[in-house]
Amino acid sequence: VWQYGKTRKRKPGEPPLETGWMPFIGLALDYGRNPLGFLQDMQRKHGNVFTCKIAGKYLTFITDPFSFSSVVRQGKNLDFQKFAMGFSQRVFGHADFNSPMLSESYKEVHSIFRQTLQGPPLQQLTQSMLGNLQTVLSQDSQRGHGWQEEGLQSFTNRIMFEAGFLTLFGQEAELPKLRGVAKAGSFIRKTVRDFLMFDKAFPALAAGVPISLCLSAWRAREALASELKHSGLQRRNCISALIQRRMDAFDRMRLDETGKARTHVCMLWASQANTLPAAFWSLYYTLRSPAALDAALSEINRVLQESEEPLDDPSQLISLTREQLESMTVLDSIIAEALRLSSASIMIRVANEDFVLTLDSGEQVAIRKGDYICLYPQLIHMDPEVYPNPTEFQFDRYLEADGKKKSSFFKAGRRLRHFLIPFGSGASECPGRFFAVNEIKEFLTLALWHYDLELSNPDATLAPDCARAGLGILPPSRDVLLRYRVRERGGTP
Ligand code: HEM
Repeated sequence: VWQYGKTRKRKPGEPPLETGWMPFIGLALDYGRNPLGFLQDMQRKHGNVFTCKIAGKYLTFITDPFSFSSVVRQGKNLDFQKFAMGFSQRVFGHADFNSPMLSESYKEVHSIFRQTLQGPPLQQLTQSMLGNLQTVLSQDSQRGHGWQEEGLQSFTNRIMFEAGFLTLFGQEAELPKLRGVAKAGSFIRKTVRDFLMFDKAFPALAAGVPISLCLSAWRAREALASELKHSGLQRRNCISALIQRRMDAFDRMRLDETGKARTHVCMLWASQANTLPAAFWSLYYTLRSPAALDAALSEINRVLQESEEPLDDPSQLISLTREQLESMTVLDSIIAEALRLSSASIMIRVANEDFVLTLDSGEQVAIRKGDYICLYPQLIHMDPEVYPNPTEFQFDRYLEADGKKKSSFFKAGRRLRHFLIPFGSGASECPGRFFAVNEIKEFLTLALWHYDLELSNPDATLAPDCARAGLGILPPSRDVLLRYRVRERGGTP
């Protein structure tokens, strides 16, 4: 809802209104420069609810964590799907699944997320990822046993992207035997390059710049789409149930071939764009903190020693049962802490009509039709009352004294239901969250088990790239140099 007209006036019952002095743009520049700092200032000035005019839109921020449920449970007056689908259609160029022709069939497509990313299919996906990670790492090991150098971000992206891609989209079935490995290698290197090129334009695309003006991003997206056409996917083996069922559903909907392929680019983006930086930060913080590294290594050692395979043989594939993965609470805590420090997503709902929102305190706020209601979880993640020394990485923040997962966090003496929200909540909660944590756990386990890893300059500080604030997990502002070599086997790590 673009409001070009006169700046509006606050009506009785509405939250405090900040419009800035610039017509249309409003507070977009102040917000864009440092969203967290801007919202913290507004919170200090106005309290827990306020409306800001940003780029012609009116955004009402609810910053009290106890009122999060009032927003995410408001399915009747607050819509997520229409907004998210409009955004996705603009960026990925797929069909309008909100249209009357497609919206009923799309409900079925949407239900596939839950059916294939949770429950028993999750175990299958997790096992497949473990196998694929080991395939990728075994190609790496063939490079030799001395120390190697590479950026940590490049190392993480390369390994996680390829393994994640193979897990979802399967493997090329008909590569000639000898040239197969080289051909597969150049295919995946091009795919990861296209993915990163497209992803780099995301802040601009999210800010409303049409993709036709971001030529390299458009080319990269179309190159990905041409790799993900059904004719190509049908030649691949071991495609995940998630992608296979989406292919079948889109075939039944009779979309055109490019349109179908673009929905797969959208799925590829959802599965990788947050996972890659989350895996980066999890490994980065572990390598920077001797206590975290020690605790992680002894947990990995404990779990792998339980298995019956002879682990001194480096060619032996590692398997991890669901119970073993679940027992790795140190890795869980490291990942949760890395997510807390790097997540900067915004949760947006659109008001379907004028209505009154009742907050946890009982306060009632009038909301206008078309306004955006926003939650910004980083305000909780960085709240010193909930997390003392919030900018510090503490690997055991999510561990109880007995090593179990910690899930009680308090504000103003009250226990918080929502204390860590990197995956969203309610209608927009990420259906891939369990898989995401499992695959990062597997990546940490294998990387720390197979390699000696060192940051070249562990004392240098590294800031997240805030240009992507609002879009999910922030990537690092630059890459950092990693030294690694294959670990000599025969002892414990
Ligand atoms: C949606 C976070 C990994 C699949 C979301 C949303 C968030 C999120 C915040 C909601 C977006 C919104 O409000 O508009 C993350 C993070 C991840 C991760 C932090 C990794 C650390 C994954 C993975 C998959 C996945 C691995 C699949 C394999 C999806 C899908 C949606 C989604 C399909 C859209 C759901 C819908 O439309 O209802 N994710 N995600 N995500 N995520 Fe994830």
